[in-house]
Amino acid sequence: MEVISTKNLKKEYKGSGFSKERITALKNFSFTVNEGDIFGLLGPNGAGKTTLVKILLGIVYPTEGDASIFGESIKNEKYKTKIGYLPENHKFPNYLTGEQVLHYFGMLSGLSNAQVKSRSDEYLKIVDMEKWKKTKIKKYSKGMMQRLGIAQAMINEPDLIFLDEPTDGVDPIGRKEIRDILIGLKDKGKTIFLNSHLLSEIELICNKVAILNKGELIKEGTIDEITSTGNKHVFTTSDLSDDVINILLNQYFATLHGKNEFIVNSDSAESLNTVIDILRKNNVNILSLTKEKNTLENMFINLIEQQN
Ligand SMILES: Nc1ncnc2c1ncn2[C@@H]1O[C@H](COP(=O)(O)OP(=O)(O)O)[C@@H](O)[C@H]1O
Ligand SMILES: [Mg+2]
Repeated sequence: MEVISTKNLKKEYKGSGFSKERITALKNFSFTVNEGDIFGLLGPNGAGKTTLVKILLGIVYPTEGDASIFGESIKNEKYKTKIGYLPENHKFPNYLTGEQVLHYFGMLSGLSNAQVKSRSDEYLKIVDMEKWKKTKIKKYSKGMMQRLGIAQAMINEPDLIFLDEPTDGVDPIGRKEIRDILIGLKDKGKTIFLNSHLLSEIELICNKVAILNKGELIKEGTIDEITSTGNKHVFTTSDLSDDVINILLNQYFATLHGKNEFIVNSDSAESLNTVIDILRKNNVNILSLTKEKNTLENMFINLIEQQN
């Protein structure tokens, strides 16, 4: 089932100060997120990630286009009872304790006192913050604050949770803890939408990824789909003769590393097999042949660089 879908979203902001130039934060943005996905929106700072989330939450209005959540247009606000949100750089009043923060947001969500109590106990346990619940949050680390933030986003038992840069500024152990919490939520059947400029985070937990740059969607798919183009094949062989080297360079645009190793930048099995035929015909022994998969990082950097 489609949980989020957008059609040709565009967002222009007014320029700041005296500037009359409008800023296009998002253009022609169409995508879908399905039930049970951990969807990662990846892009450099300023790409438009937060703008998209704010549109989906009804915090800012799109200049053009439309979006629907749970099959209904976002103009119909009813969907908001079924979503949770952890904003980027959120700030809770720092004189509150963790438990009081959850109480406050629970009451805002229209829960009864008894519901707030039982859910905050449940979610404090899930995010491993029970022992800190009576401590004022000004004493919390960034990781603890984010874990509490996730509990806050869950207090109304949403089916869809938006997390904007949940691991930014969190140390590696804290990040792992947050990843584990998110995987636990997915296992409970929740759909998670994650914004991040941190590639490793997305790569480790998301089943679907979209790459956004300067307001434009430049790639979308599973991590396998995104990284499946541009694979390399590395051959190690017995000594290559000058004739063979010439063929490899001129016909296959191979990259040579000395006389015994070369790389063919090709995905096609056909060209790979003709390379093997040529080697065998010229009495070259193939010692090994390995496929080097493109990493999401390489792909991301290449795609962003192509655009700049
Ligand atoms: N309220 C606003 N007014 C004017 N420009 C904004 C506003 N919010 C964001 N922008 C601009 O829109 C672009 C996208 O910002 P944002 O959505 O925050 O990107 P990201 O979350 O990917 O870092 C940036 O150029 C940013 O400066
Ligand atoms: Mg942002």
